[in-house]
Amino acid sequence: MRAVNDWDQWIEEELGRRAEQDLTRELRVVTESSQPVCRREGKTLLNLSSNNYLGLAGHPQLAEAMGEAIERGVGAGSPSSRLIVGHEEETALLESELANWQKSEEALVFGNGYMANLGVLSALLGREDAVFSDRFNHASIVDGIRLSGATHYRYRHRDMDHLENHLKKADQKGIRRKVIVTDAVFSMDGDLAPLQEIVYLKERYGAALFVDEAHSVGVVGTQGRGLAHDLGIAEQVDLHMGTFSKAFGVYGAYVSGKREWIRYLIHTARSFIYTTALPPVMITAIRRSLQLVKQGALLRQYLMGKCRYFREELSQAGFRLTDSMTPIIPIVLGESSTTLQFSKRLVDCGVLAVAIRPPTVPKGEARIRFSLMASHRDGDVQEAIRKIGQIGHECKVIT
Ligand SMILES: Cc1ncc(COP(=O)(O)O)c(C=O)c1O
Repeated sequence: MRAVNDWDQWIEEELGRRAEQDLTRELRVVTESSQPVCRREGKTLLNLSSNNYLGLAGHPQLAEAMGEAIERGVGAGSPSSRLIVGHEEETALLESELANWQKSEEALVFGNGYMANLGVLSALLGREDAVFSDRFNHASIVDGIRLSGATHYRYRHRDMDHLENHLKKADQKGIRRKVIVTDAVFSMDGDLAPLQEIVYLKERYGAALFVDEAHSVGVVGTQGRGLAHDLGIAEQVDLHMGTFSKAFGVYGAYVSGKREWIRYLIHTARSFIYTTALPPVMITAIRRSLQLVKQGALLRQYLMGKCRYFREELSQAGFRLTDSMTPIIPIVLGESSTTLQFSKRLVDCGVLAVAIRPPTVPKGEARIRFSLMASHRDGDVQEAIRKIGQIGHECKVIT
């Protein structure tokens, strides 16, 4: 058994090891974090790191909705988990509005996207089952799979032949049930899952399909319904997950699908059952945000125009981009040390864009992940592109 003091030493060594590999992480105080330009440690920074794609987190209507809710007496907190005391009418209204918007039978609100993924995967799958997951799926999907105890088949990123091979292998082994799970938009690359091909394979091999639309709802498709709707295959997806913490500019998440599937989750998803409900004041803000998202065609158009311009300019400058089709636009630099240096130089020049390093991305694939907002001013974006190019030359990433 380890002596107590060994723990202090071990933690120190672990942190030291991360520092040696340029993998130290820092928490920092930021003001006006939901705005296109924020302030950090006395510096004014163009925020190119935010998931607040439509700029709604700072929208006055959301603050107004929250203020009105408090005045109506809904309270700042929830009394219990939803299955104990029950929920306010606002929550029932939100769930029916979400179901309407997603054209699904029902929707269920979760505390956040991480908990939704954990809850769904551990509820659907057990030790006798198999799950097929894109190698670049979000950490919350990986953790949900671990919790479920199911056999985990990781397929190469967007590689449908590899997915099919795994499905065949699982059938040969006589696996009980199969679930395919994928991000719709991959959070560190900004590229899209080949959902049509996945639907074909799901039907061919009798698997269920769970799609995480965290980065696509609000941004992609008519009324911001997400990628599956945009491709016309939403009905073939058994469960959809979307979060309110990104384009919605609020907090929380939902899962939508057929009535009986949602009823099953209410009985089995432990991250839904054993946690306090989202505060009603938050639910009110989400309802208002849903209205803004549905009416946000113009915001989506501005956003996509800016993204296209940003991608084209960086590509022409010689940076290595991913296949991004979304507001997540990374430049892949390779080594953590170069990426960290690049990110620090950006901050010196007034641009906030984080260095994404292993284990969040594979070794040798460290990158600067830029993300754009509809509310960024065109002039600021142009100026940022100029600075990124200049630092690219300084760091010898481009010639
Ligand atoms: C693809 C994906 N799924 C799930 C989550 C988790 O969502 P949330 O931030 O609401 O917990 C995130 C973001 O962090 C994400 O990028």
